[in-house]
Amino acid sequence: MTYITQLISFHEEDHLLSILIELEKEEAYLPTIGPMKAAFLFTIVTITRPKRILELGTLHGYSALVMLKACKDAGIRPELTTVEMSEVRARRAIANFKRAGVCDIVRVVIDDALTYVRSIKGETFDFIFIDISKGEYPEAFELCLPILKKHGVMVFDNALMPGVRRFSRAVLNDTRVTSSLIKIGDGMLVCIKR
Ligand SMILES: C[S@@+](CC[C@H](N)C(=O)[O-])C[C@H]1O[C@@H](n2cnc3c(N)ncnc32)[C@H](O)[C@@H]1O
Repeated sequence: MTYITQLISFHEEDHLLSILIELEKEEAYLPTIGPMKAAFLFTIVTITRPKRILELGTLHGYSALVMLKACKDAGIRPELTTVEMSEVRARRAIANFKRAGVCDIVRVVIDDALTYVRSIKGETFDFIFIDISKGEYPEAFELCLPILKKHGVMVFDNALMPGVRRFSRAVLNDTRVTSSLIKIGDGMLVCIKR
């Protein structure tokens, strides 16, 4: 098995990293982004240096912890809001965030992601990561675009999955964003708001 530590050079051990590796070992069967895409997400978060992150689709917190580890290593203390509709999964994520020592900068919202985004008033984000039910991607894109800052980054997981390709093609042709389709695993779509 490959772990994120084998794909990115980490020079020192820390608590957050230990939890990430533990999640990779214990939860290899779960639909997380996995270490390859985690390494890519880590890289774009490091380059983007976001201060306010929104994630739709928490599961047990693996991808959120990857983004927080990237910020920590880059010397940034972001605020991360992550939305999960399953209470059981959200509770598990909260426990993992506690163990990783990041509870003070993470807000876990237990709700339907699209309902939550519709309720947001006067808040904007500079990085949005979307990994919910694939049929919801077109609506998530339209709802998230207004709350993404200019030059902010929005990333969709599974962009090359058969049911998602048509959406990815539409976004690549959308002039409101500049986008790249990254052929890593089943794909990641990276959009920058113009
Ligand atoms: C693929 S998993 C997320 C994996 C996570 N991003 C990671 O890599 O660690 C998708 C998660 O999104 C949740 N989900 C799916 N549709 C959702 C929605 N409309 N609102 C909130 N959560 C949703 C599911 O319950 C599931 O836990």
